[in-house]
Amino acid sequence: MDTQRFDYNLLIIAGTLLYLLQSSSSLKIGETCSTSNNNCDSGLRCGTCPASGNTRPRCVRIQPLGPTSKVNGLPFNRYTWLTTHNSFAVSGTKSPSGGMLLGPANQEDSVTSQLQNGVRGLMLDMYDFNNDIWLCHSFGGQCYNITAYTPAINVLREIEKFLKANPSEIITIFIEDYVSSPNGLSKVFAASGLNKYQFPVNRMPKNGEDWPTITDMVKQNQRLIVFTSKSAKEASEGIAYEWRYIVENQYGQEGQIAGSCPSRSESSPMNTTSRSLVLQNYFSTNPNVTGACIDNSASLIAMMNTCHLAAGNRWPNYIAVDFYQRSDGGGASEAIDVANGHSTCGCLNIAYCGVNGTCNTPVLSPPPPAQLSPGGSSRSSGTSFSIHNAYQLRWLVGIVLSTWIFISL
Ligand SMILES: *[C@@H]1O[C@H](CO)[C@@H](O)[C@H](O)[C@H]1NC(C)=O
Ligand SMILES: *[C@@H]1O[C@H](CO)[C@@H](O)[C@H](O)[C@H]1NC(C)=O
Ligand SMILES: *[C@@H]1O[C@H](CO)[C@@H](O)[C@H](O)[C@H]1NC(C)=O
Ligand SMILES: *[C@@H]1O[C@H](CO)[C@@H](O)[C@H](O)[C@H]1NC(C)=O
Repeated sequence: MDTQRFDYNLLIIAGTLLYLLQSSSSLKIGETCSTSNNNCDSGLRCGTCPASGNTRPRCVRIQPLGPTSKVNGLPFNRYTWLTTHNSFAVSGTKSPSGGMLLGPANQEDSVTSQLQNGVRGLMLDMYDFNNDIWLCHSFGGQCYNITAYTPAINVLREIEKFLKANPSEIITIFIEDYVSSPNGLSKVFAASGLNKYQFPVNRMPKNGEDWPTITDMVKQNQRLIVFTSKSAKEASEGIAYEWRYIVENQYGQEGQIAGSCPSRSESSPMNTTSRSLVLQNYFSTNPNVTGACIDNSASLIAMMNTCHLAAGNRWPNYIAVDFYQRSDGGGASEAIDVANGHSTCGCLNIAYCGVNGTCNTPVLSPPPPAQLSPGGSSRSSGTSFSIHNAYQLRWLVGIVLSTWIFISL
């Protein structure tokens, strides 16, 4: 009798503990979460997308799968990498004179944090400024105090630190280049310690061939690819001219018209297969933190399919977005996983790549509701596949069972 009573109490305690644990951490994608203490699993964050009516705070993805952890050793151009547009334009940054910067930011976390979340392409606008090279979001090719984010060396050093600490990761930098001081770029790269990682221009495929494999690039420690928007710098400084190697679609609003994927003016047409790499831009002309969650969701994947056709059945190698953490669920990370699935193993998502060319495609649950149920707390999300609902059920069954045993004795 006493042992039964003890079991009963223990069950309640254990059940309660499990319940509390489940409601305070380890929430999966789509589950209702708390925006005040991010109680989502790692790789997720708690967010809403009011612009699309998704007001229920839910865990959304901020990290794509590392594609080489699923399928390794393919040529570099068989992979897709999450890329941040104006990676350095982080909200909350102060101008060099201490005041507000002109215009809205494009991202919300530092380049180091972006890299930790799996961003592998960085778009950096570089200008001559204050006798140095600065990252600036400016106009007329000129940087000003009110448009200057940070000296380029700071961000390049963050990249160097990441490459050193992560010896099998590869990063690509796209420079929107306004630097005209002699060897300005070469000097700042040398000063940052990044030179030793540079993938040499003479190894870049010039006529549509495959790139070297990831394995080869890692082994040779050629893990930094740098492109400039100024063609002359390939000859003068050995920095690859972007559109000799990449095709790229139109950026801004004109690149967001459903069903069409025109190339940007500097790029060859999307279907130019002598360019081995494909870059897909998908962000609004004016950075829009509230609208980005719509852009980074279903319409991004729809445009990826459009651009795949336009590029001659090639999936993008880079997908560039604003506010990469914003979405209504899978976000830009899911787009990356989908592209990697198609191009590395022929499955709908890299998560499904199986052995010997098979796909382990799961049966998906119906999506959870967009809004909170009336008067609903964050605990009763009403989701059909919620993990903590399962725990609640187990807890309840445990109590009922032990009560029954207790009574029947
Ligand atoms: C820009 O900021 C620097 C550093 O605070 C200051 O010395 C300089 O006067 C400012 N320039 C202008 C044009 O405001
Ligand atoms: C490439 O696309 C253009 C339209 O942009 C089309 O006219 C051309 O035939 C395509 N070339 C190939 C090789 O598919
Ligand atoms: C930002 O996006 C939202 C949602 O799509 C839209 O309502 C709003 O007008 C946009 N703001 C700007 C400044 O474009
Ligand atoms: C995959 O293919 C290899 C070589 O054909 C074979 O030895 C292996 O058993 C296969 N594995 C599975 C799980 O089918």
